[in-house]
Amino acid sequence: MTDRRAPSHPLFAAVYDPAMAAVEGTLLRPHRNYLVDDLRGAVLDVGAGTGAMFPYFDAVADGTVSFHAVEPDPYMRRRARETADELGVDIDLGSAGAESLPYDDDSFDVVIASMVFCTIPDVERALSEVARVLRPGGEFRFFEHVLDDGWRARVQSLIAPLWKRVAGGCHLTRQTASLFAADRSFDVVEVDRMNLGVTPIRPFVRGRLRKRA
Ligand SMILES: C[S@@+](CC[C@H](N)C(=O)[O-])C[C@H]1O[C@@H](n2cnc3c(N)ncnc32)[C@H](O)[C@@H]1O
Repeated sequence: MTDRRAPSHPLFAAVYDPAMAAVEGTLLRPHRNYLVDDLRGAVLDVGAGTGAMFPYFDAVADGTVSFHAVEPDPYMRRRARETADELGVDIDLGSAGAESLPYDDDSFDVVIASMVFCTIPDVERALSEVARVLRPGGEFRFFEHVLDDGWRARVQSLIAPLWKRVAGGCHLTRQTASLFAADRSFDVVEVDRMNLGVTPIRPFVRGRLRKRA
């Protein structure tokens, strides 16, 4: 059964930005740029965390794009608010989880998920919410770490329970790309699996799905 309580991870929120600093400026940069390439219209960042996508939103903001974000963990969300305020970027930031998005059907042109479907408790429900709030023809763009192969997968499975406890509820063994590609609400535009990162956070999948009419 899925736990519907809002996540609350003050320690994870405190260490997230310092822990990610080295990879943010190097390994993650091209993939975050991919997520904001040629953005148009209304954009939703689900599970925004501390606002790691916000500098990228700021870089492409041209007055034609409106930015929205949801983050259910109050400790992460407070940091996201600070990130947005420091950048001076206009982002409507809400407290919802991805399984229950507080928006009307067909509200968004693009929904972005970056390293968040590893943590969402009910991924099927979240994906159905993403499809609901996207307008037909709108894009779901994602960048996620997934289950590896061979010995690396065995290591991931072995440490997964402990990892979930210390890493804010993150699951190491999800097969997120397969879930996305099988969803009948979307056409696959592109999906790439990349041997990026270090076990247990490796490999990554990155891609775009288009909501069917
Ligand atoms: C690894 S962080 C990624 C944050 C950010 N997207 C990034 O790229 O740095 C995962 C985030 O998912 C959030 N989260 C947990 N449960 C969620 C849910 N049900 N819906 C949306 N986000 C959730 C966590 O609070 C956390 O901020």
